[in-house]
Amino acid sequence: MKYYLAPMEGITTYIYRNAYHQCFMPADKYFTPFLVPHTKKGFSIKELKEILPEHNEGMCLVPQILSNDADGFLATVKKLQRFGYREINLNLGCPSKTVVSKYRGSGFLAKPEELEGFLDRIYSEAKTEISIKTRIGKDSPEEFERLLQIYNKYPVKELIIHPRVQQDFYKNIPRLSVFTEAVRESKNPLCYNGDIFRGQDYGQIVEKYPKLSAVMLGRGIIKNPGLLGEIKGEEPVDAGRLRAFHDKILEDYRALDFGEKNVLFKMKEIWCYMGSLFSEGEKELKRIKKTERMKDYEAAADQLFASLE
Ligand SMILES: Cc1cc2nc3c(=O)[nH]c(=O)nc-3n(C[C@H](O)[C@H](O)[C@H](O)COP(=O)(O)O)c2cc1C
Repeated sequence: MKYYLAPMEGITTYIYRNAYHQCFMPADKYFTPFLVPHTKKGFSIKELKEILPEHNEGMCLVPQILSNDADGFLATVKKLQRFGYREINLNLGCPSKTVVSKYRGSGFLAKPEELEGFLDRIYSEAKTEISIKTRIGKDSPEEFERLLQIYNKYPVKELIIHPRVQQDFYKNIPRLSVFTEAVRESKNPLCYNGDIFRGQDYGQIVEKYPKLSAVMLGRGIIKNPGLLGEIKGEEPVDAGRLRAFHDKILEDYRALDFGEKNVLFKMKEIWCYMGSLFSEGEKELKRIKKTERMKDYEAAADQLFASLE
């Protein structure tokens, strides 16, 4: 089985990925949060930081593109190839309203004819392997049958399926019957993604799909960075390891020199997920959420880690 860390805009930045890779069970593949094509010759500084090989040493990184425009996609692929990337991922899953209203991400799934035209072009013109990360439809799971027929026409390096429709956002439960249909009918290799939060969730997926060769985990790992280790038989994480991980992320964000407020914002976003590991730390977590100064943040974090010990 291969294990991938899901791309999560704002969270799985290169700083997070490096800290995770160093402190916990490394993933077999990492994905950048989505890049949107633009007409500038190179990449913006923010984009560059994500994709520079020296920021991603020792790990297999797949850049992800969010687009419904074949020219933009192809131009971005060319730019990425200069950095040595051999696989590019297409985002057909993002459910956010601003993205979907432009028929991108899972919004593109509502236009199967245009999607097919787009895939025709990128699979015939891009000189790279292309994997796809997709939801199962825009409004209804019934849309998936047609979408799968389309995907089956192309040599998709890997089809990563998050079996929800756009309208689900993150509500409801993954629609496994649709994933089962994909397992039966897909001509391309599949990867399962969605709601693997505990070892048991992973166990149920492998039991149901014994031939599955890859899973992608997002929120489960952000909530509990020791999850992959636990799945592979390691003991649950202890406070020391979590602390080292936290401190590395904090230190690396601080080194960016992009202002205390921004560093705090990044850390608080992670705590929205990782806080669930600290059942005794409700008071400290509230303090972390409210804090506006680094000093207060550090004091609250110290107390929070002490509560875990
Ligand atoms: C805050 C947030 C940001 C995300 N950003 C991206 C993204 O940039 N690209 C993408 O393909 N999916 C993105 N996703 C979706 C995740 O990659 C993943 O498909 C989803 O969380 C379901 O998997 P999980 O249940 O393991 O978390 C994002 C999800 C969240 C919650």
